[in-house]
Amino acid sequence: MKTKIFLTSLCLFLMTSTTGAMGPGLLKARTELQRSESLRRLNANLDHPSIKPGAVIASPSQDSPNYFFHWVRDAGLTMETFLILRSKDPDLSDRRLINWLKFESEIQQRSLQQGTTLGEPKYNVDGTLFTGPWGRPQNDGPAIRARTLILWAQALRGEGRNLPAELLPTIERDLNYTISHWTESNFDLWEEVKGDHFFTRLAQRSSLQLGANLFAELENPALSQRYRQAAMDIEKSLSEFWSDKLQLIMPTIRQTDGWTHKASQLDVAILLGSLYFTGDQEDFSLIDDRVLSSIQKLRDSFYFYEINQHSDTWVLGRYPEDVYDGVGFSYGHPWFLATAGWAEAQCRMAQAWKRAGAVMITPLNQKFLQNYLWAPARLRSGEILRQGDPHFETLIRNLRDQAQDTMDRVVFHAGRNGQMDEQFSRFNGYMRGAWDLSWSHSAFLRADRLCQF
Ligand code: NOJ
Ligand code: NOJ
Repeated sequence: MKTKIFLTSLCLFLMTSTTGAMGPGLLKARTELQRSESLRRLNANLDHPSIKPGAVIASPSQDSPNYFFHWVRDAGLTMETFLILRSKDPDLSDRRLINWLKFESEIQQRSLQQGTTLGEPKYNVDGTLFTGPWGRPQNDGPAIRARTLILWAQALRGEGRNLPAELLPTIERDLNYTISHWTESNFDLWEEVKGDHFFTRLAQRSSLQLGANLFAELENPALSQRYRQAAMDIEKSLSEFWSDKLQLIMPTIRQTDGWTHKASQLDVAILLGSLYFTGDQEDFSLIDDRVLSSIQKLRDSFYFYEINQHSDTWVLGRYPEDVYDGVGFSYGHPWFLATAGWAEAQCRMAQAWKRAGAVMITPLNQKFLQNYLWAPARLRSGEILRQGDPHFETLIRNLRDQAQDTMDRVVFHAGRNGQMDEQFSRFNGYMRGAWDLSWSHSAFLRADRLCQF
């Protein structure tokens, strides 16, 4: 019996786990379709008939699991994707953003009036408070929301347009909340661990820096200075997350509550935080050695996924010890948003190194970089690869190719009709968990746009 199950899953695996079986022409066509379907399905989530305009449902799934709520984090990240896509269709994006702004401004005020905080992680789709038990507060939400709103304000100002009335007050409420709560223990983005989180701090630093710039331009130096100072304080706190011993960035420190199952201290939240909330020149950017060392270990840790074992292109989940299977608890699986994030990270590293024109090999980044060179080329610490040098060119090319191959896997595991759920099975590659997760489509669309595949 055991053998039979094993053989069946092996066959399934062989049929489903490699994109190699699809020719390049077919893959291109699938990617085209995914582009339009992801946008169509995301728009359908936002236009769902039984929600208040501006709410962003995490997924239309209303049971097993029930994701029919507005999560502040998912919404803020999804709306950033509409900003990234804005140059193609500014009217569509602005309509979306205005509705979302109104919804957020209302739920912020409702939370304050009803005695809770802006750290509420999720709301009912009619904009009322969700009062059931949940891991709260989650302080990445307000920072992510403010950040997207600030980026939008800057885009509008750049075009000489007026800012909608609610925009600045909504941003200020979030940034003021962030300033006064960033040191407090709160739940992580996966809603499981209470403590201080690297992902959350990066979102907070970024929103306050951008806020400081915006209010300086708006000639409000006092506010700008307060935000700048807090951003600097957060920046100083980031180095506490680096573990010299483990040679990686810890996702959480000073844990006070929640699950304690993440023995490896590896989490895709490090990759996603750096991807979403840093620029090339900053501490903990994607090409920061500490981030590279962490990503290298994280990637290796997912080798145990059956569907990774016969492919050079790996798919990622949240963290190796994960047991949330999308509905209940059994096995953790790869996630679309993690794998699309990994694709985007590789192509943006290539872009960043190309802009820099050189890479210095260090003990921390050596192993990561070695993956992208031909086996006989051995890198030495202290060596500098420069533009024009064959190793440098190989590195850039292979990073891009791997990014593309990783995106191909995202497309391959999505439904043939473009449906994209939260997860896909680590055993056979089939989708599972909340269907048409907004964050999955959003992660695919931004990677596709920013990498220009
Ligand atoms: C749903 C959460 O959002 C998910 O991240 C978590 O793993 C499970 N509940 C268990 O808490
Ligand atoms: C579970 C994820 O862990 C969390 O990050 C997300 O906000 C919710 N699902 C909703 O998608």
